Amino acid sequence: MANLAIVGAQWGDEGKAKITDIFAKSSDIIIRYQGGCNAGHTVVVDGITHKFHLIPSGILYKDKICIIGPGTVINPPVLTKEIEELKEKNIDTSNLCISPLAHITMPYHLDIDGSSEKDLGNKKIGTTKRGIGPTYTDKYNRIGFRIEDLYDNEALNDKIDTILPRKNIVLKKVYGLKEYSKEEILEFCQKYAEILKPYVKDTYEIMRNAIKNNKTILFEGAQGAMLDIDHGTYPYVTSSNPIAGGACAGSGVGPTNINKVPGISKAYLTRVGEGPFITEIEEENGQKIQEIGKEFGTTTGRARRCGWFDAIIARHSSLINGLTSMAITKLDVFDTFDKIKVCTAYKDKRCGKIYNNYPTNIYIHKYLEPIYETFDGWHQDTTNAKTFEELPVNAQKYIKALERIIETPISVVSVGPDRNQTIMMEELQG
Ligand code: GDP
Ligand code: IMO
Ligand code: MG
Repeated sequence: MANLAIVGAQWGDEGKAKITDIFAKSSDIIIRYQGGCNAGHTVVVDGITHKFHLIPSGILYKDKICIIGPGTVINPPVLTKEIEELKEKNIDTSNLCISPLAHITMPYHLDIDGSSEKDLGNKKIGTTKRGIGPTYTDKYNRIGFRIEDLYDNEALNDKIDTILPRKNIVLKKVYGLKEYSKEEILEFCQKYAEILKPYVKDTYEIMRNAIKNNKTILFEGAQGAMLDIDHGTYPYVTSSNPIAGGACAGSGVGPTNINKVPGISKAYLTRVGEGPFITEIEEENGQKIQEIGKEFGTTTGRARRCGWFDAIIARHSSLINGLTSMAITKLDVFDTFDKIKVCTAYKDKRCGKIYNNYPTNIYIHKYLEPIYETFDGWHQDTTNAKTFEELPVNAQKYIKALERIIETPISVVSVGPDRNQTIMMEELQG
């Protein structure tokens, strides 16, 4: 069976978890490769809603190995709470594995994220305030704590002695925040070392055996291509690589182990937080999408900004991820719409210049206006459609038009949050 990397093709919240959950059924291993508890992933099964932040969406199947991979960042209290919540629902967590290489979000990372956003004022990024940026900053600055450090007293003491005095200077002098004592950090580490111990396993060994024995691996992305630190709307991005390439670095296996890369896009577009959004809808249709699509963040509860589907972003995403197909989710949200728009190009209102591809300098985005193709709505309920042919003709036309405009085959159409509200157009794992 093919190994899939499921990636967000927009600004996150595309419905990745729903699609991951579906393909997890016929996979052996599901591995989250980047990001942390900034992610909010929702899976609905038989009317019951499950929300995940760090735990892979495959956990709802009893026999699947679910790995929180080397490229992730872990906030121990949040992970502990997530594990507890699953246990309360009688969901087995014994197959959950945490990579010893994953970095730890320390209490001071949360303080810095909050304070830095406050200091930026109206230039803030609009982060989830989960300490993600500061944790990755320390990782790349080589002053991070990894999960494996929790289980080596010499390493832990040495690192605290080396790193904490430097962090305290920054906390106090740059941000005016409270300093941490060695005892506080040690206590935090010792507490969570104990709680997380049953889950910390050699994930290289698991991946090695999986590849040797031809097991099916599912790489689960968090966030989305346009939030990618290198290829997204920098600086209004997250601090990791959600793109498919990130699946290799973040899981510790090479690109030859990924066979297909389905990208996930909504039938429209949303974004949480600050940053440019060329197809954002200011008129009532934006609010209509927000209400019908229940576009409020899973992690922070913030209202998501809503806009029309942007093919420039989809094509950019297709390139930087090497998408083999696209899954379109939330088609049902348009069931009562008269007209639906798709942006096919941007026009610079200063000089008339047309952009057919994504312009990376976000400072010019405010001068760009979308050029739209408009489609007729279908005024019919799509939520029970099981095949493409069962969709109303205008919905079929919309999907076919997207396929043409984004130059990427559409493999899945989702018409509701539940597992069974999914139309498969192609056998992806075959
Ligand atoms: P993720 O972060 O990409 O996994 O997406 P989120 O879970 O944050 O947000 C997607 C939301 O849309 C969740 O509430 C899902 O239950 C819901 N959803 C997913 N697919 C569909 C769909 O096809 N139709 C509708 N109406 N909701 C969907
Ligand atoms: P999932 O996996 C949507 C956004 C934040 C902010 C920017 C940086 O559910 O798709 P960060 O806290 O990462 O430093 O914030 O990225 N962001 C997301 N937006 N879905 C997500 O995850 C996101 N994770 C981060 O809103 O704009
Ligand atoms: Mg989400």
